[in-house]
Amino acid sequence: MSVKNITVLGSGIMGHGIAQVSATAGYNVVLRDIEQKFLDTAMEKIKWSLDKMVTKKKLTQTEAEGIYSRIKPVVDLKEAVKDAEMVIEVVPEIMELKKKVYAELDQVAAKDVIFASNTSTLPITEIATTTSRPDKFIGIHFFNPPQLMKLVEIIPGEKTSQEVIDVIQEFVKSVNKTAVLCRKDVPGFIINRLFIPMVHEACYVRDRTGATLEEIDSAVKFKLGFPMGIFELADFTGMDVIHKATTEMHLRDKKVILPHPTIEKLFDEKKLGQKSGEGFYKYSGDKYERIALSEELAEKFNPIQLVANIINNATWLVSNGASDIEEIEKAAQLGLGLKKPLFETAKKIGIANIVKELNQLAEKNGEFYKPDPLLTSMQ
Ligand SMILES: NC(=O)c1ccc[n+]([C@@H]2O[C@H](COP(=O)([O-])OP(=O)(O)OC[C@H]3O[C@@H](n4cnc5c(N)ncnc54)[C@H](O)[C@@H]3O)[C@@H](O)[C@H]2O)c1
Repeated sequence: MSVKNITVLGSGIMGHGIAQVSATAGYNVVLRDIEQKFLDTAMEKIKWSLDKMVTKKKLTQTEAEGIYSRIKPVVDLKEAVKDAEMVIEVVPEIMELKKKVYAELDQVAAKDVIFASNTSTLPITEIATTTSRPDKFIGIHFFNPPQLMKLVEIIPGEKTSQEVIDVIQEFVKSVNKTAVLCRKDVPGFIINRLFIPMVHEACYVRDRTGATLEEIDSAVKFKLGFPMGIFELADFTGMDVIHKATTEMHLRDKKVILPHPTIEKLFDEKKLGQKSGEGFYKYSGDKYERIALSEELAEKFNPIQLVANIINNATWLVSNGASDIEEIEKAAQLGLGLKKPLFETAKKIGIANIVKELNQLAEKNGEFYKPDPLLTSMQ
């Protein structure tokens, strides 16, 4: 199985970036959307990004032109997939829409074409079974923006063949990204499994301790090595994305997440974060803005309950056969920008202290907080 021609279905935020990254690596790319106007916007964005790279001397003008010319915008689905060996689907995160898209695609794509979905949270195995080729169906989760983010999670479904996993791993390497294999199709895969529950937990921690947003965020940044605070990161990601991921993950398994009402409230009030001018914080303009966090503020807050939450989920991923500690650390470093390994931070606090904290939380707040057996055994 060798891949030279790729079709990217969906030219939005992620699709145009994935098309650009693939064409940069030398692949011939067809970019498909439902209307020409979406493709025009996407091609303009790609041109803008390539021009910027030329200005920064990361590409020559000739290279940029070569990359641009390898991306062909096409509206007709049949035409778009006629030469493809692989289709990367990047349509909106709506199960019914994805299923409809795959039903159409399955009819027109040749039998041996690989289907790779960029879904962030939807179950790979379930989407795969709606096609005639679950063995050739796989999750390929790029992060936003694909041009810059190094991490790609690869998620095989129950029936995905080893050959397809190998092809996708090779592909990810060829586009100069680092692949982390999420060996089981678990809700949230690796990064969202760590990140989304932590945003909710941060809201509960705020309720329980009365700490300010800035104190919590400072501790997350300076004590846990996050590139920014957890509320700041939530605002940066967008409450729409977090709300959607929460809903999908919770739908799949009630135990993976304890939704805090603040997320739904902010989402309903259209306080989506940076992009709408307000989320957990208020922003003055539409320019990307950082919150003033400091080591002094960090000293005012003990982040043990947040570490307990993320490390409990990390060990859950290991004990459920989805990943291992080394891969989780790699994913957290590249996907969340963590500067300190998670398990190192946990050991510094003391695994026994974390287990004790989780048991106390479980007593007061229920089963959700129970420490994973692997975490308990690590004391
Ligand atoms: N935005 C993010 O931060 C992010 C990060 C990682 C993964 N994802 C995932 O990537 C996928 C796409 O997200 P997005 O943010 O790029 O969405 P988006 O809304 O920006 O883009 C989706 C595009 O798909 C097009 N589309 C709709 N139906 C189509 C069809 N039948 N064929 C081809 N194109 C079609 C839409 O017109 C739109 O241009 C989702 O599964 C999402 O969960 C998003």
